[in-house]
Amino acid sequence: MQTILVTGGAGFIGSNFVRHMLSMRPDWRIVNLDALTYAGNAANLDDMATQAPGRYRFVHGDINDSDLVKRILIEERAGAVVHFAAESHVDRSILGPLAFVETNICGTARLLMACRDVWEQSGRPRDFRFVHVSTDEVYGSLGPDGYFTETTAYDPSSPYSASKAASDHLVRAWQRTYGFPALVTNCSNNYGPFQFPEKLIPLMILNIVAEKELPVYGDGQNIRDWLYVIDHCEALAAVLERGIPGETYNIGGGAERANIDVVRQLCTLIDQRLHREGASCGSRLIRFVGDRPGHDRRYAIDAGKIKRDLGWRPRFQFEDALAATVDWYLSHGEWIDAIRSGDYRRWIDTNYGAARVG
Ligand code: NAD
Ligand code: DAU
Repeated sequence: MQTILVTGGAGFIGSNFVRHMLSMRPDWRIVNLDALTYAGNAANLDDMATQAPGRYRFVHGDINDSDLVKRILIEERAGAVVHFAAESHVDRSILGPLAFVETNICGTARLLMACRDVWEQSGRPRDFRFVHVSTDEVYGSLGPDGYFTETTAYDPSSPYSASKAASDHLVRAWQRTYGFPALVTNCSNNYGPFQFPEKLIPLMILNIVAEKELPVYGDGQNIRDWLYVIDHCEALAAVLERGIPGETYNIGGGAERANIDVVRQLCTLIDQRLHREGASCGSRLIRFVGDRPGHDRRYAIDAGKIKRDLGWRPRFQFEDALAATVDWYLSHGEWIDAIRSGDYRRWIDTNYGAARVG
């Protein structure tokens, strides 16, 4: 049995990773350290106690709490860390950047210090791994041609991506300076179950169902490279199990879509499921609103390295997995009701207030 410490495992990608890996790796035990910010929901993994008895533990705590991190690593004899914990939403970083500095930069630095301490004290075990889960947004914005590779220069546009860029640099510095066995991944936009409805796809699904306006930033032609969350989880497992410390791996789905096309596709999928046609079709709700400041035009990943070196491939087609995602949200009303707290409503009012409507 090997024990993995996952940070931020109560969020979107982390909770999918914990669920998927406990099912795929019967010899893994996972300890999930999560501060339960607005984006974290421990109930996402409530059923792990029965699905994976004795192999899942939740610890409510902060990556900034070095004593707690060290205690967990020592008492659990953890052989690896997969670091998801972060502030992850670009629009929130524009309205309140400091939380992103505190969690993504300072939090990652403190986590690295605690992990390195325990790793040194344990005699620098050769098979220990620290996987830092980062984003393609560190590379900035692409024009109509070309792809991000692992050697593309960093050029972040938002406080979120700048804070993730800083955290990537810290992780690499720990590897080069101390020989700490860390790896970095930079992934494109994920979608799938358990994503907080502040992000494009779940926000649009919920608004279409509730027949609320669909706020599309700018001209809707910004392009994202979409990856189903389970494909990302499998890529991270490949990096953890077969990646080389010190290396960076880009992860992407090769599914570039303009935002407006994704929104129209969601309208069609939900119209079909709710038997809406003619004047009640979802697309009537589309509104082009003021653009996101510093809005990156296009992201597209060259995932050649992880495919060649680690044998990873995305398994899910965008159209199929998007439909499955819609079905998941339509059948998880209780999860959505729980999310729609006062905090969520306040966020929607703040971000989509009259000032942004174009
Ligand atoms: P999320 O916002 O859904 O979840 C973040 C989790 O981290 C939450 O459970 C939150 O409670 C926890 N957290 C925040 N601050 C913490 C702290 N100080 N200590 C402990 N836990 C804390 O994010 P996500 O979309 O699941 O993204 C996970 C990671 O993957 C992030 O690092 C993000 O930058 C990266 N990433 C996300 C995407 C994407 O499309 N969502 C793509 C590429 C990379
Ligand atoms: O590329 C990876 C990144 O993808 C991750 O690092 C981030 O954590 C994740 O949030 C995501 O960032 P984006 O900014 O690309 O995702 P978001 O869902 O916020 O927006 C996707 C696109 O849709 C973007 O071009 C902005 C646009 N958009 C978004 C919202 C919320 C709209 O047009 N309207 C909206 O209401």
